[in-house]
Order: sequence, then C-alpha cells, then structure tokens
Amino acid sequence: MQKFIVTGGRRLRGELALQGCKNSALPIMAAALMCRGECVLTDCPKLTDVYSAARILGCLGCKCSFEGNTAVISAGTLSGTEIPEELMREMRSSIIFMGAMLGRAGECCVSVPGGCELGPRPIDMHLAAMRKMGAEIREDGGRLICRCPDGRPKGARITLPFPSVGATENVILCACLAEGETVLNNAAREPEICDLCSFLRKCGADIRGDGGSSIAISGKESLSGCEHRIMPDRIAGATYLSMTAAAGGEMILTNACIPEMEPFLSVLEQTGCSIYAGSGRIFLRSGARLRAVRDRIRTMPHPGFPTDAQAVLMAALAKADGTSVFEENIFDCRYRHTDALVKMGADIQVLGKVAVVKGVASLHGAKAEATDLRGGAALITAALAADGVSEITGISHIDRGYEKIEEAVTALGGRIVRR
Ligand code: UD1
Repeated sequence: MQKFIVTGGRRLRGELALQGCKNSALPIMAAALMCRGECVLTDCPKLTDVYSAARILGCLGCKCSFEGNTAVISAGTLSGTEIPEELMREMRSSIIFMGAMLGRAGECCVSVPGGCELGPRPIDMHLAAMRKMGAEIREDGGRLICRCPDGRPKGARITLPFPSVGATENVILCACLAEGETVLNNAAREPEICDLCSFLRKCGADIRGDGGSSIAISGKESLSGCEHRIMPDRIAGATYLSMTAAAGGEMILTNACIPEMEPFLSVLEQTGCSIYAGSGRIFLRSGARLRAVRDRIRTMPHPGFPTDAQAVLMAALAKADGTSVFEENIFDCRYRHTDALVKMGADIQVLGKVAVVKGVASLHGAKAEATDLRGGAALITAALAADGVSEITGISHIDRGYEKIEEAVTALGGRIVRR
C-alpha cells in the first residue's frame, strides 16, 4: 500500500496547468460508446477512474487506447451488453453506462455501482427515469437487467426530484438515441453536463437548454464520432488554490475555467487571499494568516458552492483566524476527513449536516488515512500547512481524481513523496 509523506511548513510558489476534468471525462467516455465513428478526447486526465471506464468500454467490445493525455475510442461494433460486477463496483459513475447502453443497444446488464464512501448513494432517480423512457428493469441479486421491449428507448417528459448530476447525464445519454423527444426538468446545471452536451452535439446529437434546469433532446438514429477537448477540472483547481491558501505563498493556475470556478473563488476570496482571474489564468496570493469565512458555507447544486470543494476549503480554514461554519447539503456522510484534521490539531465539531471549524494557531503533522477522494486531498492540504511530517495512507482514493498530485504539489515547492 502506497502512502504520501508530506513535510509541511513551506510556503508554496509556482505555476500549474490544470488537468482535464474527471467528472467530464467519465460521462464523455460513456457517450463515446454510443458513437459509430472514432472519438478522440484530448486533455483526458490519467486517473484510475478513467482507466476503470476504459476497462468497461473494453469489455463491451470498444477499442480504447491512450497516448499521453489523448484517448481514442472506437465503438463501431459492440460485442456485448453486460458489464461485470467487479468493474461496476470500481466507481459509482459506472451507472451512466446504463443510459448509454440502452441508447446504443436497447439493453444492458449492470449492477448497483460502488464508490459509496459518501454514505448511501441510491440510484432510484436513474432507474425511474430509464423506466419512463421505456426500459424494463429487473433486479436479480444486485444485478440490473434492463431491456427496451421495442429495441429502442422512447423520449419522455421527466422531472427529477433533485438535480442529480448522474441521473441528468443518464437521461441525456439515453435520450440522444431514443425515439422522439425528451424533456428533462429540474436537470443538474453543473458545467460538466454542458461539456458532455457539447461533445454529443459535435457527434450529431440534438440537445437544447443544457446549463439550465430544462433540457430538451430530440433522439437521432445514430451518432458519429468527433474530436473533443475535455474541460479543465474546477475541483482540482479548487484543491491546488486551497493548498496555497493554507500553506501561504503565491501561485498561478493556468488552463483554468474561471466562470465555472466562480462559486468557489467568491468564497475563497473572503479568506483574505488576493485573487486575480482572467484569460484562463488565476493568480492567488495568500498572506501570513487566512480569515475565517463569515457567512455559512452551504454546499448546493451548481451554481452553488460545490460539495467536492468542501473538504479542501475546510482544511485551509482549519488555521484561519476565527470560526467558519459549513453546511453539507448534497451528501449525508461527507465529513469523514474531519477526524484526521482533528488529529492534526484542528478544532472541528460536526453536528449532522453542520461542521463548525474554529481556527487554531497551528496544525501539526500526523498519521492520517484518506477515506475518500476529496477528503484525501484535504489531508494533503492540511499537511502542507502543518508543522512537521504527516504520513497519509489510503492514497488510492486520491489517485482516482488527481493526476500525479505529488508532481503538482512539488511543482509548487511543496514537499511530498510517494512511498
Ligand atoms: C456527481 C459527481 C460528484 C459530485 C456530485 C454532486 C461525477 C462522476 N461525480 O456525483 O463528484 O460530488 O455529482 O455534485 O460526476 N441521489 C439519490 N438518488 C439517485 C441519485 C442521487 O438519492 O438516484 C442523491 C445522492 O445520494 C446524493 C445527491 O442525490 O445525495 C446528489 O447526487 P448526484 O448529483 O447524483 O451525484 P453523482 O452524480 O453521484
């Protein structure tokens, strides 16, 4: 089992190009399954979750190869419609292959996905939406056997009870090759949904309204391939900015998606950091101490404050002057990083969906275990701001979403070693 050894107490300084976005690459890889022509994805991040998606494509008969940050996917003919359980369990987002397979083949056999470290993550909205689009879904010992009786899904009017990102993606994917028109209300508005739609449009799909709450899709008979550049990863961006804010110093983030990062940047600015953003570059300078954020930081669907940036910002605020209050509204179990932060000397009280972070004078190095992806990144953030050495285990969680995080931190002058 690998671990990170982080020596804290050094200010960070440097320039970093933002990696391609994991949460955009995964649904776009599922979408490539629906295309009869070749798809070339540039800026595709090299991550274990991306390789899991490639294995799923492979077992369905698609060719998928990587050269540097370019992925080439050919799904001319499929050889199967069944995704083995062990692949489904590798990551929760594997469920979006359901909509893609139903669209392309009219049937699939998948299982209840894994990646459940943030508490119960049901897929009821996905299943209800696919059923509305004409799929018959039978559960058999954790396997989901899905079939459209007419061989093709049907367009439908669907209103999600909550703007779920994954359910929105599943409906969009399925609807692109369904018969007739689909209207999806209360859709998620995350930027990654727009990136998926822009990829699909290049392949010939007819989608209107993405980025808003109501999306209309007219189904097509087939989709072609295209070349598409994956958008930058706003959460990786939030992570590296939080690290520099926490440790002190200055950095420039290039290849940044500034409008998409605004909900995070507007909160980070309240900590007293100087932030200048323009032309795809974000400059951040962090002085001696951060200020606590006065208003409650409420995680919300986009364009609210992103739940995926909650842990890294909390790590940065652990050493701020004053008390910050977080309210986690998206996931039930998203404060698992707080125990490790407390081990490093943070003063954090969790009560249900609220976490109260009283800034302390200093943090100290500790042995800590990452229990989820963003929580793991928060431990590195705190370790960089702490005095002494930290040993972080469970780093396979971190490798799911950050491309060579130790190289990025080292480029900023942080001390981190993978062992
Ligand atoms: C995606 C992101 C994840 C991010 C999350 C919220 C990917 C690969 N992952 O996850 O990084 O944290 O959006 O921005 O893009 N829910 C149900 N029933 C369902 C579906 C969801 O109850 O059928 C609940 C979930 O348990 C959760 C909430 O809805 O509490 C939001 O989940 P959702 O938006 O679906 O997140 P994901 O797509 O899993």
